[in-house]
Amino acid sequence: VISLEDEGIIIIKFGGSAITNKNVYKSVRKDVIKMAARELREAIAVKPYLKTIIVLGGGSFGHPLAKKYKLQDGIISEESLIGISKTIDSMRELSLIVSNMLREEKLKVVPIQPSSIAINKNGKLHTIYLETLKKFLEIGLIPILWGDVVYDVEKGCSILSGDEIVSKISLELNVSKVIYGLEVDGIFTDPIKLKGLVNVINDKNLHLLQKSVGESKGIDVTGGMIKKIDETLKIYQRGIPVFFINLTKPNNLYRVLVKNENVGTLLFKGSL
Ligand SMILES: Nc1ncnc2c1ncn2[C@@H]1O[C@H](COP(=O)(O)OP(=O)(O)O)[C@@H](O)[C@H]1O
Ligand SMILES: [Mg+2]
Repeated sequence: VISLEDEGIIIIKFGGSAITNKNVYKSVRKDVIKMAARELREAIAVKPYLKTIIVLGGGSFGHPLAKKYKLQDGIISEESLIGISKTIDSMRELSLIVSNMLREEKLKVVPIQPSSIAINKNGKLHTIYLETLKKFLEIGLIPILWGDVVYDVEKGCSILSGDEIVSKISLELNVSKVIYGLEVDGIFTDPIKLKGLVNVINDKNLHLLQKSVGESKGIDVTGGMIKKIDETLKIYQRGIPVFFINLTKPNNLYRVLVKNENVGTLLFKGSL
């Protein structure tokens, strides 16, 4: 009897810090994207039943524009609208680069623009329509979403971070694993010197987390690692393992996808 194994959905965040150079406007790290694409393709070759969703960070395509137009403050001037327009298109540019590169590895990706399906309220996700995404997943496509500027019922507009999308989807769908691709090896107790990599975080050492977390090295209008931790804690509380990995180093993504190896920091209540 051939039974289709079902692992549930795996969410992979391509951190903006990993796939772009956050300090240089609209710079893409094609080597990193290509490597991630190849490793995802190889993982799917081993486990053809894998259902994955990719979420992109804004990186140097999102954050500089969002900052320039102060989009997290809402519609504050005549300029705000052009800011929304430019930022949405800039993220579409990044997503198009990524989807083209993934398709080169034969991955059947489908971009889903978050500002078309989500509404914020006071800077936080209010509603998101996920039915299309679910159906695309069912027929075997790999949805790609990203941090975006969205309509806000209080402020006119605000930023919906990729990290918030990741946690929302984790709580709404049957997600079995969340992988955070970063440009560092995981969570450090000393984020300035990048020392003291924490291997496992669970109820016993959860306090380490809030204490050790610092600013993002690049521009990050959505609060960098601090906000990221807030979001991942929601996933953690649901009992879903969250892997923080260095996406810029070879084999990390493959090892987590195929072997559930903890190659960085694992935030998880249970044991693997
Ligand atoms: N304790 C910590 N451990 C690891 N990285 C940290 C820590 N504190 C702050 N950081 C910074 O947070 C960055 C990741 O957050 P962010 O720049 O928002 O990533 P992304 O682009 O994926 O959203 C890391 O690259 C690092 O510079
Ligand atoms: Mg970020």
